[in-house]
Amino acid sequence: MDTTQLFSLKGRTALITGGSRGIGRMIAEGFLAQGARVYISARKAAACDQTAKELSAFGHCVSLPADVSTVEGAQGLVDAYAKHEGSLDILVNNAGAAWGAPYAEFPESGWDKVVDLNLKTPFFLTQALTPMLKKAATDHLSKVINIASIDGISVNPQETYSYAASKAGLIQLTRRMALRLAQERIVVSAIAPGAFASDMNKDARDHGDEVKGRIPAGRIGTPEDMAGAAIYLASRAGDYVMGSTLIVDGGVTHAR
Ligand SMILES: NC(=O)c1ccc[n+]([C@@H]2O[C@H](COP(=O)([O-])OP(=O)(O)OC[C@H]3O[C@@H](n4cnc5c(N)ncnc54)[C@H](OP(=O)(O)O)[C@@H]3O)[C@@H](O)[C@H]2O)c1
Repeated sequence: MDTTQLFSLKGRTALITGGSRGIGRMIAEGFLAQGARVYISARKAAACDQTAKELSAFGHCVSLPADVSTVEGAQGLVDAYAKHEGSLDILVNNAGAAWGAPYAEFPESGWDKVVDLNLKTPFFLTQALTPMLKKAATDHLSKVINIASIDGISVNPQETYSYAASKAGLIQLTRRMALRLAQERIVVSAIAPGAFASDMNKDARDHGDEVKGRIPAGRIGTPEDMAGAAIYLASRAGDYVMGSTLIVDGGVTHAR
């Protein structure tokens, strides 16, 4: 067995929503290091362009700014991507939002914003990109990786009702879509991250010392932890992982 190319993404194309910072950026950097051509997307064009510029030090990285929270916005991203590439090997549905509010005051806006972006968008963006993913699935399989959360598996005490529901829904959607898309040589899986430093997880970013006390591994996740999981699922190494959600949380879920 030759395992030297098992994790290679050489010659593959990847589209990562929410790639301008945080977890999406960690995955983008990992994919570039493995030889993929990477397209990152986010709403704030200047930040997305700047990240693509910085990541270009590691390979071919292009910024495609878009708001993917609506079906029209997602289609805009597909159209922009199609100007660069004729097929797509790897889609990472990573862009996400969270909202916390006490139960009695939880607003409809905090429901729709979160559930639209975290749950509806992965479905419709994948649907729109399926012809491109099918086209890439020639001598290898194409991949869709959904970024869920451990909050979709076990209950976070914070009052993030729409977030918890969206991530649990995404985990089940991953299973359902995996069954359908296996027929097209497209493998669908998910990652459930624990604590990674980001704008969304300010606790992990700004109070890492406090947060790490609640993590069996004794630390928050690093870019290598996230990149390693994503590279595994995206490459030949992860071809037989279908519909599953890989928990990458330093043991938190088992300790909650
Ligand atoms: N960090 C953690 O500890 C953690 C744990 C579990 C799960 N996750 C999940 O990991 C994913 C990434 O989270 P993160 O922590 O890296 O968050 P983050 O730092 O807030 O990054 C979110 C990314 O998504 C983009 N984005 C937000 N809304 C968008 C929209 N409507 N259209 C397009 N792009 C949009 C943001 O850029 P713009 O603002 O410019 O659009 C940014 O690039 C999310 O799905 C999150 O739920 C994170």
